[in-house]
Amino acid sequence: MIDTDRLTKRYAGARGIEDLSFVVEAGEIYGFLGPNGAGKTTTIRTLLDLLHPSGGHASIFGLDSHRGSREIRSRLGNLPGDFTCDPRLTGRAFLAFCAEARGLAGLGRGPVLAERFEADLDRRIGDLSRGNRQKIGLIQALFHDPELLILDEPTTGLDPLMQEEFLEVITDHRDRGGTVLLSSHELDEVERVCDRVAIIREGRLVAVERVAELRGRSYHHVSIRFEESLEVAELAAIPGVSELRTDGTRVSFKVTGALDPVVKAAAHHTVLDMELTEPSLEEVFLTYYGREGPR
Ligand SMILES: Nc1ncnc2c1ncn2[C@@H]1O[C@H](COP(=O)(O)OP(=O)(O)OP(=O)(O)O)[C@@H](O)[C@H]1O
Ligand SMILES: [Mg+2]
Repeated sequence: MIDTDRLTKRYAGARGIEDLSFVVEAGEIYGFLGPNGAGKTTTIRTLLDLLHPSGGHASIFGLDSHRGSREIRSRLGNLPGDFTCDPRLTGRAFLAFCAEARGLAGLGRGPVLAERFEADLDRRIGDLSRGNRQKIGLIQALFHDPELLILDEPTTGLDPLMQEEFLEVITDHRDRGGTVLLSSHELDEVERVCDRVAIIREGRLVAVERVAELRGRSYHHVSIRFEESLEVAELAAIPGVSELRTDGTRVSFKVTGALDPVVKAAAHHTVLDMELTEPSLEEVFLTYYGREGPR
């Protein structure tokens, strides 16, 4: 759906993005994750032909992002990071305007989405709170049910319930065959909905990972309470066990790789309680990439 080859955008006197090559497959939710100033918005604006690349190339739907920009725009939904529109319009009038621009007869999924997001389409957009304005932005990106959604920090300003609703809406979109590229600096939301995540830092792509695999090749925190205090040396000797701590009967440690040897060793004693915790994606990233990127 999206294919970039060494895409580069330099601003006069400032780094934008450098040599970004990535592919977003049809039917996936692809997360673009990075701290402030990393280059997420620059990438999205370059993809959308709002910025001219200084180097490299991007295509969407197999079309050149510049030469094919008219067709590309007609087939995608986009929410810019700084969504604004005429504040005098109501949400409904704004959607009608968007529909007309797209040559569509009705408001499509607009009213259904408004209900899901509890958005008021009959108030002037200028009178809405920031979060409620953001909902109108989301609805205009989604109302025509586009095959590809490109969303720049879509959950900005949404309260936790609405963030939840949004994540469900885009998961539904994916499940119906749609594709989503979204940017975020929140690991938590990326972790919850994305199939793959690209980490961008200082204008460069530092990692692209399948979320499930990233978790799969990671580790667990284990905490076991035994009936009697035990000699921890036998647990410490198991390959993959580290950071072992004990207060006598409760033993806590980290296991990288297979859990089976730990379970078998524990089974030699009476286990009262056992707790397994998966690390957060953030913890995994810090473990594998550190704060400065891959080593
Ligand atoms: N119009 C511009 N002129 C000059 N430099 C710019 C311009 N827009 C962005 N930059 C620079 O490009 C870099 C990437 O900015 P960008 O807005 O793409 O980051 P971002 O990842 O979207 O950050 P945020 O999370 O804050 O939205 C930054 O160093 C920024 O200062
Ligand atoms: Mg941005």
